[in-house]
Amino acid sequence: MGKRYADMNADERKAELKRLEAKLEEVRARGLKLNMTRGRPGSGQLDQVNDLITILSQEDHLSEDGSDCRNYGGLTGIPEIRRAFAEVLGIDAANLIVQDNSSLNIMYTLILHALTFGVPGGDAPWGQNPKRAFLCPAPGYDRHFAITEHLGFDLITVPMTATGPNMDMVEKLVAGNANIKGIWTVPVYSNPDGIVYSEETCRRLATMKTAAPDFRIIWDNAYVVHHLYPDQPELCGSVPEILALCAEAGHPDRVLQVASFSKVTFPGSAPACLAASKTNLDWYLGHIQFRTISPNKMMQLAHVRFLEKRGGIANVMRGHADVLRPRFEMVLKILRENLADSGLAEWHEPKGGYFISVNLRPGLAQATVNLAKQLGVAFTPAGATYPRNNDPSDSNIRLAPTLPTTDELKTAIEVFCLCVRYCALTEGNAK
Ligand SMILES: Cc1ncc(COP(=O)(O)O)c(C=O)c1O
Repeated sequence: MGKRYADMNADERKAELKRLEAKLEEVRARGLKLNMTRGRPGSGQLDQVNDLITILSQEDHLSEDGSDCRNYGGLTGIPEIRRAFAEVLGIDAANLIVQDNSSLNIMYTLILHALTFGVPGGDAPWGQNPKRAFLCPAPGYDRHFAITEHLGFDLITVPMTATGPNMDMVEKLVAGNANIKGIWTVPVYSNPDGIVYSEETCRRLATMKTAAPDFRIIWDNAYVVHHLYPDQPELCGSVPEILALCAEAGHPDRVLQVASFSKVTFPGSAPACLAASKTNLDWYLGHIQFRTISPNKMMQLAHVRFLEKRGGIANVMRGHADVLRPRFEMVLKILRENLADSGLAEWHEPKGGYFISVNLRPGLAQATVNLAKQLGVAFTPAGATYPRNNDPSDSNIRLAPTLPTTDELKTAIEVFCLCVRYCALTEGNAK
């Protein structure tokens, strides 16, 4: 790694600058065009699950309750797919329904219904409250924040810690402000940090006193089966079953849990589920029944057959992990080789999920992403992991190692490290 910039004298810094500039020229001459912006599965992963496309024969269209999946009906999803989700979440299938075609779709609809009609336990539609607010643990998932921003909420940033959102802050905020209607959470392998919530965090979320009687936790379990080290799943064993926890605490309607098979099979074509109390499920169904007659039951049936053929979801996820693990490990190795002990960057070493989250020395993120873009490598925009794209420290960058080829990924991360070093040396930031 060499000397820290902070310990270099003027001549050493000059020599380092020359070295970096030469490297930048080399990269520029390559005319790169790489996209590292989003957490999409790579084509190798999609190929692994391709038999989903042809798994149903013409004769195979009945679900186990005898309903014809080719036809209308069955708003709650076919029983077998509900069981598949229930197994993943460790709950009873009666506590969830299966919908199309993305969990974001469900989350957006939940918030929209809350705004328009109010939720059980509330005394008015959320939309009637111009001061409505939502807690946004950050760094977090940009699309969560975007939903609540788009729908007119004040976004309140809560810092993430190694065990989940800063719960002292969450408890204080929700106890003192009835305008705060909910909180976004990703309890397992959070996006982007890969953090798994501690049991204590989950308990505090379930038991905390909220000034709003109709407070909701959006429990987005997007990565519940996305282990990079599937033989050590105890790594996320700290997360208790949240519906039961909230019910025990006397708040059965507090949590709305979502999950999907988007990154198990084909994003955009996979079923997603909503798991919640009976009261909440009835509320949701009571409104969506006006929007749709039936979910895509053929795709639900195809998923059931596909999972049966593959011997269960854990086996499918093992295949994905075998593709992803070497990529994550390569990114971490390049970061270590180029930036360890530099004082310029720290990063998480996730055991699952889709991202590696890097915290640069404050003030470096925007410049680094801009420079990389000039060199033909697009990273997730700086600030995207914070509400309203505003990272107050200009520090966090989300690396998404899944989509590019391995060679492209290697190049992209090397370019990233080069840009960090160059920006640190030239932006008046070297300390
Ligand atoms: C935390 C989180 N939730 C939800 C999603 C999207 O899931 P879906 O395809 O089910 O809408 C993502 C995708 O990156 C995610 O990171």
